[in-house]
Amino acid sequence: MASVTLKNVCKAYGDVLISKNVDLEIKEGEFVVFVGPSGCGKSTLLRCIAGLEDITSGDLYIGEERMNDIEPSKRGVGMVFQSYALYPHLNLYDNMSFGLKLAKASKNEIDKRVEHAADILQLSHLLDRQPKALSGGQRQRVAIGRTLVSQPNVFLLDEPLSNLDAALRVQMRSEITKLQRKLGCTMIYVTHDQVEAMTMADKIVVLDAGFVSQVGKPLELYHYPENRFVAGFIGSPKMNFMSVFIEEVEAERVKVQISNGTSFWIPVSGETVERGQRMSLGVRPEHLLRPEDADATIEGDVMIVEKLGNETQVYMNLEAADADVIYRQPDTLDVEVGDKLEIGIPAHRCHLFHSDGRACQRLFREKGVEFLDD
Ligand SMILES: Nc1ncnc2c1ncn2[C@@H]1O[C@H](COP(=O)(O)OP(=O)(O)O)[C@@H](O)[C@H]1O
Ligand SMILES: [Mg+2]
Repeated sequence: MASVTLKNVCKAYGDVLISKNVDLEIKEGEFVVFVGPSGCGKSTLLRCIAGLEDITSGDLYIGEERMNDIEPSKRGVGMVFQSYALYPHLNLYDNMSFGLKLAKASKNEIDKRVEHAADILQLSHLLDRQPKALSGGQRQRVAIGRTLVSQPNVFLLDEPLSNLDAALRVQMRSEITKLQRKLGCTMIYVTHDQVEAMTMADKIVVLDAGFVSQVGKPLELYHYPENRFVAGFIGSPKMNFMSVFIEEVEAERVKVQISNGTSFWIPVSGETVERGQRMSLGVRPEHLLRPEDADATIEGDVMIVEKLGNETQVYMNLEAADADVIYRQPDTLDVEVGDKLEIGIPAHRCHLFHSDGRACQRLFREKGVEFLDD
């Protein structure tokens, strides 16, 4: 087990800067997820930590030791890749022990470590099978086992579940979480899937075009995004946004007017807000209400209805607002395409964003949210 610290780390390929001024502290035994859209630099950052790429500037520490110039095999890290290519002609035992043999470990030591890893990953009964005789999930576990036997201080996993089907992904998600708890190891897990991030992480690092956009606990990011990027990225379906006019500003609340002329106060810090501005109001599909329960209502045309049984998702165009929103309610709503529907906005669930994307701090205390600095 070891901590990982990045200080102002930048990584460029030629003149193209990919990772930008990354400052991060990952504690011993923490499960950290790097999440962001494809191409935002997640793998690059992970490969810099592993030593598969040189860091252009800044410092990387694993434990107390500066690692910038230490070769990958001496960093005490183990990496699991998305394409985990096992050796097809070797059985599981040989696949898992391959690295240890190269490192000239004793037969005894190899046996002990492979058996231990196989036991943890429930592969003990399969050790003499070849990869082709395994399911996708089992193969993925072998790839993890191969890393486990090297007894790394830090586990690095790069989208390890992307090649699996949806049901298996859900199962492996909890298996990896359990494994991390059992080993108590420091784990950095990369994914583009915000559901994986939300369900697995102690701490999520959201990356946006190479920058760290926000670091926080899962529900902290969901309820208190610091900017519009995180607000839109965490949560599915995405947060709805609509343009609003700022009517009045106080220290701890802001009065906004929506496109149909209705205005209401929302509990956010007014510190950086000015009267007369246009800003972006955000509200999640699942926080919209039936009109009778709300602080403000707005009408729209129903474009698409998805009845999923447990919930209904209604895609609407708000007439006056030039905005599309998704309205999500538990159970089955009696709504059809072409209907006019009135929906309710709960003021305390609203987010408010400046035109540059910065969020005003929300002051409403959501229940059950843990914060990183608690
Ligand atoms: N070896 C490389 N040379 C040049 N550009 C690269 C190289 N590897 C990755 N990139 C670029 O860096 C950016 C981030 O890539 P990557 O870290 O793989 O993103 P992610 O893992 O978040 O999808 C992409 O624009 C990619 O094209
Ligand atoms: Mg990647």
